[in-house]
Amino acid sequence: MEFSLYPHMLLSFLVLLLSCFIFSLNQKAKSKRPNLPLGPPGWPVVGNLFQFARSGKMFFEYIRDLLPTYGPIFTLRMGSRTMIIVSSADLAHEALIEKGLIFATRPTENPTRTIFSANKFTVNASYYGPVWRSLRKNMVQNALSTGKIRTFRHVRDTAMDKLVERLKAEAAANGGAVWVLKNARFAVFCILLAMCFGVEMDEETIEKMDNMMKTVLITLDPRIDDYLPLLRPFFSKKQKRATEVRELQIATLVPFIEQRRSAVKNPGSNPTAAEFSYLDTLFDLTVEGRKHPPTNPEIVTLCSEFLNGGTDTTGTAVEWAIARFIENPSIQTKLYAEIKATVGDKKVDEKDVENMPYLNAVVKELLRKHPPTYFSLTHSVTEPVKLAGYDIPVGTNVEFFLPAIAEDPKLWTNPKKFDPDRFLTGGEDADITGVTGVKMMPFGVGRRICPGLGMATVHVNLMIARMVQEFEWSSYPENTKVDFSEKLEFTVVMKNSLRAMIKPRV
Ligand code: HEM
Repeated sequence: MEFSLYPHMLLSFLVLLLSCFIFSLNQKAKSKRPNLPLGPPGWPVVGNLFQFARSGKMFFEYIRDLLPTYGPIFTLRMGSRTMIIVSSADLAHEALIEKGLIFATRPTENPTRTIFSANKFTVNASYYGPVWRSLRKNMVQNALSTGKIRTFRHVRDTAMDKLVERLKAEAAANGGAVWVLKNARFAVFCILLAMCFGVEMDEETIEKMDNMMKTVLITLDPRIDDYLPLLRPFFSKKQKRATEVRELQIATLVPFIEQRRSAVKNPGSNPTAAEFSYLDTLFDLTVEGRKHPPTNPEIVTLCSEFLNGGTDTTGTAVEWAIARFIENPSIQTKLYAEIKATVGDKKVDEKDVENMPYLNAVVKELLRKHPPTYFSLTHSVTEPVKLAGYDIPVGTNVEFFLPAIAEDPKLWTNPKKFDPDRFLTGGEDADITGVTGVKMMPFGVGRRICPGLGMATVHVNLMIARMVQEFEWSSYPENTKVDFSEKLEFTVVMKNSLRAMIKPRV
C-alpha cells in the first residue's frame, strides 16, 4: 500500500508543479500584455474585421457609431492590424504635440503600397528618420516656400481663367447647370502639374495624367488580404495587376521627367519651360544615408505624391463650399459684397485674398465642418509609449478621427452649424497648426502636419473667391434642397456629386 501510494503522490506533486509553472507563465504573459484601450470585442484571428464588413457602413460611419460607447480612445482589431482610434483634441495634442517625436512615424505598408511608394520613398509614407527628413525638407523649403509659391502666380491665374471659361461653356451647353467637383479638381490638378513638371500641358495630356492618377488610387484601395496576410496567395492576380499599373505609371511619367531634365541641362532649349519646378529639386537631391540621387521610378513616386496630395483634397473643399453657399444664400451674398468692396470691378487676385476677413472665415469654417479627409494619415510610434494612460505598442496604427474634434461641443458653440461668423465676432478661434492648442486639425498637427497647408489655403481661397465673383450659385434642379450626405472616395465627398446652376454676375 505504502509502495503503491508513492508513485501517485509523486505524480500529483509533478502535476501540481507543472500547473504552478504554467500558471506563472500565463501570469507573466498577462502582465506583459499591453494595457490597450478598450474596444468592441472581436473574434479570434479576424478581430473586428467582419463586424465592420457586415455593418455595411463606410469606415468613418462605423467609427462615428462606436464613439458614444467607447469614448475618445479605443482599440479595433482589424485582422493582423491593431488600430487605436483617437477622437479628442486633448489626446491629439498629447500624442502629436507633447509626445510628437514618438508619434511621428508611419506603420509598415502592405505590398501594393510598397510598390507605389518605391519602398516608402515619399514624404507621407516614410518612417520618421533620415529619408523623411531629407524629402520633407526639400518639399517644404525648396518647393513649397512662400517665395516659390509666389513664382507660380501666373499659373494659378491662367488656371482660374480656364476654370471660369470651362464653367461658362458647360453651363451654356446644359441650361445653366455645371458639375462642381469635376471642374474644381481639374483646375487644381492643372496648377499642380505645372508646378511639378515645369511645362504647360494640353488638355488631352492633362486628362491622360489624371486618369493615370485615378487608376493608381483605385489600385491602392484596401483589400482583405492587407488585414489577413494569410489570404495573400488568393490575391496573386490583383498583385500582378498592381505591378502592371505601376509599370504603366512609370511609362507615362518618365517622358515628362526626361523632358524637364534636358531643359534644365540646356537652359533656353525649351521656350515653354517654366523657370522652376518641383522636379528640379529632385534630380540631384541628396538624401541622408544615400550615395545616389533618386532614380526615375523614385521620382515618379515623389511627383505622384505631390499631385495626389493636393488635388482631391482641394477639389473636395470647394465642392462643400459651393453646397453651403447654395444652402445659405446669405453667406454667398456677404462674400460677394466683400469681394466687390475689396476689388471693385477688377478680377479678384490672390493678393486681395489676404484683405478679405470674411472669405478667410468661410474657408476656416469649411475646413472645420468638412475636413476633406476624416482621418489624418496613419501614425505609429517609434517606441512603446503611454497615451491617456494606456499602452501604445510599436507597430499599432494610430488613427486620428478629425470630425469628432472639430465638432466637439466642449470646444465649439453650436458645432453642427455651418457658421463662418463664429470666427469674426471674436467669440471663437482656432490655431489650425495646433501649436497653441488643438480645436480642429484638417491638415493634421505636429511634425507630420501637411506641408501643403499654405499652398492649399491659397488655392481654396482663390478658387472660391473667383467662382463667387463670376457667378451666382443656386440649386439644381432649381428650388431643391442640397443633400449633404457623404461618401468616402479618396476624400470624403458629397454622396450625390454636386451639380449647381450658375448665373454670370455681369
Ligand atoms: C485642402 C487641402 C489639403 C488637406 C485638407 C490636406 C490634409 C492633410 C492631412 C490631414 C495630412 C496628414 C497629416 C498627419 O499625418 O498627421 C496631410 C499630409 C500631407 N500632405 Fe496634405 N492636405 C492638403 C493639401 C496638400 C497639398 C497641396 C500638398 C502638396 C502639394 C500636400 C501634401 C501632403 C504631404 C506630402 C503630406 C505628408 C506629410 C508627412 O508625412 O510628413 N497636401 N495632408
